[in-house]
Amino acid sequence: MVIDDKGQTVQIRQASPADLPRVMMINRICLPENYTYSFFDSILQSYPKTFLVAEVNGDVVGYVMCRVEHGLSKLDRLSMKRLGHIISIAVLPDYRRMGVATMLLSKALEILRDEYKCSEVFLEVRVSNYPAISLYHKLGFEIVKISKGYYIDGEDAYVMARKL
Ligand code: ACO
Repeated sequence: MVIDDKGQTVQIRQASPADLPRVMMINRICLPENYTYSFFDSILQSYPKTFLVAEVNGDVVGYVMCRVEHGLSKLDRLSMKRLGHIISIAVLPDYRRMGVATMLLSKALEILRDEYKCSEVFLEVRVSNYPAISLYHKLGFEIVKISKGYYIDGEDAYVMARKL
């Protein structure tokens, strides 16, 4: 538990099935990439340790969800690796710039490394999403590739990755 500079308590914990409706609501408010209930549920069932929510004074205000993949390193493109994939992260607008996403992501990276034994982590982000790209740079990610037309509206994605 962390007390922020406004005296609010921020707690990061594993999500439970009861959190999914609220997580879906946050996803819909914050991002154009929305998923079905069964997608969220399948990620929670398969990778529960890195499906995290952030609570501020008891309300869930953000989430991160990840999965584990086996594939070619995004960094050296030479070796096969266990890769953590950050599928989605979001924080409600009223709770931004108080370190919530940093807490969620830092904890997820720690668990991907220590419990899911991943040696690398990657994600896709819209090339126009300056706040998220800044967050990822701050946490040590680098841009490794541009995926042309990755999003449904045609926008390109940066693939960003870092070692764990
Ligand atoms: N402008 C510039 N830099 C920013 C901004 C911003 N608006 N927001 C965050 N950052 C950077 C800064 O470096 C910041 O550090 P600082 O506050 O010390 O300057 C750092 O990120 C950490 O910020 P946090 O407070 O931890 O981030 P926050 O809790 O506000 O959440 C997030 C950031 C998740 C990107 C939030 O803005 C959000 O939910 N956006 C909409 C959803 C989204 O874009 N999600 C990511 C999509 S990609 C994916 O899911 C893989």
